[in-house]
Amino acid sequence: MRNRNLLVAIPLALLLGVVLFFLGVLIGRGLARRGHAPEPPPPAAAAPVDVRAVFVPGAGQIDAVRRGVPVDQEGHPPPMARVENADLKRVRAYPMQPPTIPHAIDGYQVDRNSNRCMLCHARANAATFQAPPVSVTHYMDRDDQFLASISPRRYFCLQCHVVQTDAPVLVANQFRDVDSLLAAPEAAPAAEVR
Ligand code: HEC
Ligand code: HEC
Repeated sequence: MRNRNLLVAIPLALLLGVVLFFLGVLIGRGLARRGHAPEPPPPAAAAPVDVRAVFVPGAGQIDAVRRGVPVDQEGHPPPMARVENADLKRVRAYPMQPPTIPHAIDGYQVDRNSNRCMLCHARANAATFQAPPVSVTHYMDRDDQFLASISPRRYFCLQCHVVQTDAPVLVANQFRDVDSLLAAPEAAPAAEVR
């Protein structure tokens, strides 16, 4: 007798549970829909601002890095510059300029344990890789003593050397190197020293 009652009660309880569950889901959805705020309209697309490559001094601009974009507007970032990988050396602007790197350096690790640049540019390896060895200055400490291995002052090459890219110049300038100054015909006479 008791077993038969249980056989009826258990399926009934399960059915009730399922019905209540779906009822709850339906009511919950309805409430959520009612409480939902309407979608805000998408913000009006900002008018594109042209980014000029070269800073023109005195044209009402205050910041070369903004490239002519007014301070209260946002400019489109210019496309990223491409690294030149043509093995073509650029002229040095002055004798002690660190030469720019005429090859790509992606993935060349320089850290405490290894220096990828020195794999090719160390004096001992340069012939194998046909790379110019780093000059003596790179082996000198600050007291001008020559060390056997690369000086700690010259260990992190990218402190001074940069890759060559096709980036446009950021700020216009009238730099002339010493050779073009010497070649200038109307060179002023040296001031007389008394
Ligand atoms: C796989 C060998 C190799 C590695 C690694 C390498 N270079 Fe070079 N590098 C060369 C060669 C070869 C040249 C000569 C020009 C050319 O063929 O690109 C050169 C040229 C240069 C020059 C120009 C020198 C001059 O007189 O104008 C610089 C500067 C330079 N590399 C810096 C670096 C730096 C910094 C690193 C590390 C981030 C590096 N290189 C890693 C092979 C290498
Ligand atoms: C503190 C700045 C500085 C650091 C750091 C530095 N260099 Fe130089 N490098 C120079 C300067 C300046 C020159 C040109 C004058 C000279 O040779 O000293 C030069 C020249 C060179 C040259 C051309 C040498 C020649 O005879 O024409 C190579 C190649 C070079 N560096 C590679 C490297 C490598 C590789 C590293 C990293 C291990 C490195 N440099 C770290 C400043 C630096």
